[in-house]
Order: sequence, then C-alpha cells, then structure tokens
Amino acid sequence: MISDKKLSTMGRLLRRVCLSKEGSAKSIYLVTIGMGEELVYEPGDWLVIFPQNPPDQVGRLAKLLKGADFDQLSRNFTILSVHRPLVQWILENAAREGASGQLSEWLDGDFNTMARGYVVADMLEKFANVPVAAGDLLANLKPLQPRLYSIASAPEANPHTVELVVASAFYPGLDGKFYEGAASSFLNKYLPLGGELRIQATKTHFKLPSDPRVDVIFIGPGTGIAPFRGFLQHRDFLQKNGTPMGRCWLFFGDQHRATDYIFEEDLTAYQKSGVLDRLDLAFSRDQDHKVYVQDRIWENREEIWKWIKGGAHVYVCGTADPMARDVLGTFTKVAGTCGNLSTEASESYIKTLQKCRRYLQDVY
Ligand SMILES: Cc1cc2nc3c(=O)[nH]c(=O)nc-3n(C[C@H](O)[C@H](O)[C@H](O)COP(=O)(O)OP(=O)(O)OC[C@H]3O[C@@H](n4cnc5c(N)ncnc54)[C@H](O)[C@@H]3O)c2cc1C
Ligand SMILES: NC(=O)c1ccc[n+]([C@@H]2O[C@H](COP(=O)([O-])OP(=O)(O)OC[C@H]3O[C@@H](n4cnc5c(N)ncnc54)[C@H](OP(=O)(O)O)[C@@H]3O)[C@@H](O)[C@H]2O)c1
Repeated sequence: MISDKKLSTMGRLLRRVCLSKEGSAKSIYLVTIGMGEELVYEPGDWLVIFPQNPPDQVGRLAKLLKGADFDQLSRNFTILSVHRPLVQWILENAAREGASGQLSEWLDGDFNTMARGYVVADMLEKFANVPVAAGDLLANLKPLQPRLYSIASAPEANPHTVELVVASAFYPGLDGKFYEGAASSFLNKYLPLGGELRIQATKTHFKLPSDPRVDVIFIGPGTGIAPFRGFLQHRDFLQKNGTPMGRCWLFFGDQHRATDYIFEEDLTAYQKSGVLDRLDLAFSRDQDHKVYVQDRIWENREEIWKWIKGGAHVYVCGTADPMARDVLGTFTKVAGTCGNLSTEASESYIKTLQKCRRYLQDVY
C-alpha cells in the first residue's frame, strides 16, 4: 500500500493548532502542510508521512554509538521499539557480563511482552558494552516506516495546503518514563514551523457518492472526524455553488464535551448553513456510564433505517477495534430490529451494503 519515497514530494509545516482544550487527556492537533502542485488529492484520501524520530531519543542513542550519523538515526531507523535481530546481535556481539541469560530468555520466551516499553537506547544502556560500532548495530534495526493519516481537508478550501488531525501517541517506558510515538510527535511537536517533511498522497475508496444528491451518514469519534472535515468542506463548496445535495448526518464523540469537542465552531456553522443536517454527539466520560456513538445510532435507529432504505451511504472512521467493530454490530442490529430481519439476514444485508460500497470504513 505504502510507500515509495521516489513518488513522494516535499511539504512544509505551515501551522499547528492544538484542538484539545486544557485539562484534556488527549493532545490532538490540526496540522497544516503547504504542498506543491505535484501533490493531488481528494477528500477521503490518505497522506503518507515520512517521520523523523524524537531528537531526545536520537541524541541518547548517538551517545551510545561509535560513528553515529544523527541525520541517519533520525530518518532511517526504528529506534523506539525493539525487534529480535537487535537482541540477537547484542547477545552475540556486545552483551555485558551477566546480560546473556536475560537476553536468551527474551529470545526463547514471549518476545513482544518482554520488549514492551523498551527503546533501542534502553537496550544498549542495560545490556551492552557501550559504545558499539554504529554500522554493525544499524544493520540490525528495522527501517523507519512511513505512517498514514486520513486527510482532513478539501482542496476546494485551500488548493495549496493539506490538513491532518493528529493525536499524540504516548506509551509507558522503563522506570516510569513516557515515550512519544515517532510520527505523531514529529508532526505535533518537533517539526518546526516552516520545516520540510516528505509526504505522499494515497488514493482510497473512501469517497463521497458520485451523485451529491445521495444522503450520507458519517460516524467518526476522536481523530475519526478527520476525513469528515474534508467531506464537509467539499459539501460547503458544492452548496455555495448551488449544487443540489442530499442530507448529511454526523455522529461524533470523545471523552468530554468541555475539553474534547474539536471543531465545535465549524460544525455549528455547518448546521446553520445546512451543509450538515443532523449532528449527534456522544461524550463517553461526561456521565457515570459510557456513552458511545453507537448508542446514539441505536437511539436514532428508526430514522437511521429510513435513511438507509432511502439509499444513504454510511462512512465510519477511527479505531478499527473496538469502535468500528462495535458500530458495525450496531448497524447490523438496526437492520435486524427495524427491518425485521433474522440475525443471518441482517448480517447479509450489511455485507451487501459493504460490497456495493454503501458502508465504507477508514479504520486503524
Ligand atoms: C489508514 C490510517 C489512517 C490513519 N489516520 C489517522 C489520523 O487521521 N489521525 C491520527 O492521529 N492517526 C491516524 N492513524 C494512525 C497513525 O498512522 C499512527 O499510527 C499514529 O499517529 C501513531 O504513530 P506514531 O508514529 O506516533 O507512534 P508509533 O511510534 O508508531 O507507536 C504507536 C503505538 O505503538 C506502541 N509502541 C510503539 N513502540 C513501543 C514500545 N517500545 N513499547 C511499548 N509500546 C510501543 C504504543 O502503543 C504507541 O502508542 C491512521 C492510521 C491508518 C492506518
Ligand atoms: N496515549 C496514546 O498513545 C494515544 C493517545 C491518543 C490516541 N491514541 C491512539 O490513537 C488512536 C485514535 O485515538 P482517538 O483519540 O482518535 O480516539 P479514541 O481513543 O478511539 O477515542 C475516541 C472516543 O471513542 C470512544 N470509544 C472507546 N471505545 C469505543 C467503542 N468500542 N465504540 C465506540 N467508541 C469508543 C472513546 O471513549 P473512552 O476512551 O471513554 O472509552 C472516546 O470517547 C487510538 O488507537 C488510540 O489508542 C493513543
């Protein structure tokens, strides 16, 4: 699917705005990237980002290596997680006294569990006679993989920029430390304004109906709202041009309304102008029990079913598991209850919608 550096182009970070309000557990940013004419996209496409590793982790690792090239460590290697060849290499070439037993246990046991929370610098500090020769070690690291993001803008809104909605990823490391995800910290924190980054657009099937008069239902909690922002910008453009359009219904949610209701102003304005006909919100942690987008779908099942019977296309974006899986289950239940179908028939109904590309998912 991804990605060929040769097909990529350079973009420039123009703007980054924190969308999560103070007190949020999340750190979600709107990232605006300036692009050249060679990057062409439509709402619903993905942007491939070629990230760089966090500078503090690169610096840490560089100190443990002889002959390290900072730029190469930044751009080319996975240094934030540990894979078997690295452990094998340390065991065979650089193990500190007393480390061999533990490293052999990693290789013979549940490797992924043992390696969780370690970055490459941790491995060298804990298990190797440092410094080690950079070239030997680097041959045992995985290449740094590009990352995908759902494009959150429409070219009609600004033909020279592309926008993303990026959640900062964190995970617990050793000794109570927290490590940052490579690409999300690159986009949300380390890439300076005006800084260059390598990008590439990837076509998807996650597209609005070719006939704009068809109704659409969007389900996108959290960062799942990203492609729908692009779709709404596109609908806004069509509306301003007088194009007749079907109705649009958005289900959005996150933890708390006060801190996580991203794009509230835009969504309210779209409701006023009629670009968005219905908006249902599910803030999961604002009450003593969880409320999710699928609960709102279920509450509105009779109306949803009318839209589907009338030909509406359904779009789901966000985490594959559990969100999209549970939303799919709810749509199946809606078909069963409102369409009076058996479990088997309702599953087959939704499968048919998927085959006809009337139930589309962009999930991760
Ligand atoms: C089609 C698609 C669309 C996407 N769209 C979006 C979007 O619009 N917005 C968005 O924010 N994201 C989106 N993503 C997710 C995005 O691609 C990245 O996966 C995400 O930003 C995390 O990447 P990262 O490099 O920051 O984190 P990584 O460095 O890749 O880490 C990711 C996770 O892996 C785990 N991990 C990594 N290393 C370790 C370790 N040593 N020990 C323990 N755990 C570890 C942690 O759980 C961490 O949070 C999308 C993904 C796909 C496939
Ligand atoms: N710390 C990190 O590393 C970090 C930070 C941000 C995002 N991420 C990752 O990035 C991805 C996207 O995160 P995101 O911020 O877009 O959204 P998210 O974490 O998926 O949360 C968005 C909303 O979806 C809710 N939700 C949880 N389970 C659900 C389910 N089964 N069905 C429906 N809704 C459900 C959440 O509720 P509750 O949370 O209240 O259950 C929250 O209200 C996730 O994979 C997430 O793990 C990681």
